[in-house]
Amino acid sequence: MENKKILITGGAGYIGSHTITEIFEKTNHQLVSVDNFSNSSPITYQRIEKITGKTIPHYNVDLCDFNSLEQVFEKEKFDGIIHFAAYKSVPESVENPHKYYHNNLNSLLNVLELALKYQTKHFLFSSSCSVYGNIKEMPVSEETPLNKAVSPYAYTKQIGEQMLADYANIYPDLQILALRYFNPVGAHPSALIGEDPINTPTALVPIITKVASGKMKELSVYGTDYNTRDGSCIRDYIHVCDLANAHLVGLQYLFDKKNQHNFDIINIGSGNGISVLEAIKSFEKVAGITLPIKYSDRRAGDVESIYSNTKKSEKVLNWKAEKNIDEMMKSAWEWEKGNL
Ligand SMILES: NC(=O)c1ccc[n+]([C@@H]2O[C@H](COP(=O)([O-])OP(=O)(O)OC[C@H]3O[C@@H](n4cnc5c(N)ncnc54)[C@H](O)[C@@H]3O)[C@@H](O)[C@H]2O)c1
Repeated sequence: MENKKILITGGAGYIGSHTITEIFEKTNHQLVSVDNFSNSSPITYQRIEKITGKTIPHYNVDLCDFNSLEQVFEKEKFDGIIHFAAYKSVPESVENPHKYYHNNLNSLLNVLELALKYQTKHFLFSSSCSVYGNIKEMPVSEETPLNKAVSPYAYTKQIGEQMLADYANIYPDLQILALRYFNPVGAHPSALIGEDPINTPTALVPIITKVASGKMKELSVYGTDYNTRDGSCIRDYIHVCDLANAHLVGLQYLFDKKNQHNFDIINIGSGNGISVLEAIKSFEKVAGITLPIKYSDRRAGDVESIYSNTKKSEKVLNWKAEKNIDEMMKSAWEWEKGNL
């Protein structure tokens, strides 16, 4: 694939920064990040430069601000977009749905409108396994019918996918791929970038590492009475570097015109269901630390169990997650220790 110019929205964030690093390390594509640091810090750009030796041009722009975003499109002329930027905390979205509908939907609308206006045809969208809702039959495949969204966050992803499908239907030039990520965890092997939420983390692994390093007091396990093998929720954890690679492969897939439909959906998971308690045990083993666990009630917005059928990603992208849960936990711990 010849070199392209790609807009990375949310490039200072967790998955965006790993994806920029992956693409910089393996290609000569030009990347430009737009991020307003609502859940990240500009230091991440320096860290990416330290790892890759490449500078990422970037704009501090709120994607909900159409006029400022248009200036970026006007100046840069992108060939493709990876749209990561969104708020992502399930419990926060239950508490403050407006914040999620406002940010996640307005930013997507603006990016899409400008993609059409400036003829940027290739579009990768960060979707989420949360679109499936509570499903009984595991693993979930791309054909599994979606259930009702369990949180406003998940609903923003369902609406986002539907918007993209409707646009693709009317604009045949648009080539859109929605990647439904399962649970990204871990950090880059350099330990220079990793998950670093600005507010108190609500995802399991950042909480684990912050409790292990003494920055948080205890680790709450939300729900021990689920209908699972040990009563805790089951998730499909995927190393963030594997996920970053899936974006590179996904971009290539779109630019090489390998997609059969101009709106395509692919699950990006490991295919392994791991319980919250098993994930905690893996961390305790690799870090040699026993964590203070508090068993709490179920948390609003959490589904009981979800893991991916990986056949489509293997078949059409020729992509498969490679790193196991111990490697994910070890890298997350190295990242946390580097930040002490
Ligand atoms: N991390 C996960 O567990 C997970 C799972 C499934 C899907 N996703 C999706 O992947 C994407 C990236 O997630 P992440 O974990 O990297 O999150 P993150 O919060 O680390 O990164 C998102 C970035 O987008 C930026 N941003 C948010 N709203 C913005 C706006 N209006 N204008 C400009 N920048 C804005 C934030 O500052 C942040 O740097 C999100 O769309 C998220 O919903 C994440």
